[in-house]
Amino acid sequence: MTDRILNVRDLEVRFFTEEGSVAAVNKVDIQLDRGEVLGLIGESGSGKSVTLRALLRLLPAHSSSVSGTIELDGKDVLKLSGAELRKYRGGETSMIFQEPATAFDPVYTVGFQISEAIRNHLSASRSEARAQALKLLKLVGIPSPEARLDNFPHEMSGGMCQRAMIALALASSPKLLLADEPTTALDATVQIQVILLLRQLQRDLRMAVIFVTHDIGVATEISDQVAVMYGGRIVENGKARDVLKSPRHPYTEGLLSSTVHGARKGEKIDAIPGMPPNLADLPHGCAFAPRCRYATDACREGVPPLETGSDGRRVACFHAIEAA
Ligand SMILES: Nc1ncnc2c1ncn2[C@@H]1O[C@H](COP(=O)(O)OP(=O)(O)O)[C@@H](O)[C@H]1O
Ligand SMILES: [Mg+2]
Repeated sequence: MTDRILNVRDLEVRFFTEEGSVAAVNKVDIQLDRGEVLGLIGESGSGKSVTLRALLRLLPAHSSSVSGTIELDGKDVLKLSGAELRKYRGGETSMIFQEPATAFDPVYTVGFQISEAIRNHLSASRSEARAQALKLLKLVGIPSPEARLDNFPHEMSGGMCQRAMIALALASSPKLLLADEPTTALDATVQIQVILLLRQLQRDLRMAVIFVTHDIGVATEISDQVAVMYGGRIVENGKARDVLKSPRHPYTEGLLSSTVHGARKGEKIDAIPGMPPNLADLPHGCAFAPRCRYATDACREGVPPLETGSDGRRVACFHAIEAA
């Protein structure tokens, strides 16, 4: 009996723009168990944020299309509408962002906003919700939480506000937490504290998390499982320890060696020669082929499928690097 909480199959996202259709997410599969953290990594523009927004049902219906299957705890997410969708979005699944400013309304206190989130998703009186908000502020390690309840977002430092946003995201007791580069704007020491806090909370609450980062060091700290995205596809996926120690996709190998040679943790991944593909005009075969030192004609002719090896590692490459 597995403890599967999230099952995503063949997720596809298209945007309709004046220049034509953009294939932002292509045939993405994600399986996540309760209490498991998936680190989603890849260069900027690879479709990570769009994937999270699709999972949360946040994409604009008029200018995009989403297909495939998203099941959370057995529920068919793409079929939700009305009250059920409101219960799902920001309730059963919630999201934390890079900028707390996008999560909080500047004109209400932090305590009021967390209390409202609790009341929107769980049945609680005003005073019960306030008591729960206080508990959450304590849980995320905010000093003098009673006083902080009555602070406006701008009265908090960046690190405190980030913690308060995590409290807000936890207010609905989500089964799935989506985190889109939530620590990128913080300085290094605060960043580590917030990562450790998130790791602790998700373990205590047995919450599944998808954590987007372009920082391999951060991914190593927080992930059980890693998925590497390129050109809107997952090109490699497996246990974090294994993928980050012995990558099999040439793109993952490139990401890791660029981080090693770039030396400093927290630096942007930019050392692979060449540019990521334009999702409005993807190449015919493997999207990484133009930058890949192993590429052959076969790579330029057809897209390599994501295949599962005997150890469960999934790799989409005709020339996957042999296991050591
Ligand atoms: N609203 C939109 N309309 C059209 N194209 C979009 C839109 N949002 C994202 N895209 C396309 O999807 C690509 C991937 O974006 P994103 O998921 O934000 O990348 P990242 O991996 O950096 O988070 C972008 O480069 C862009 O081509
Ligand atoms: Mg992004």
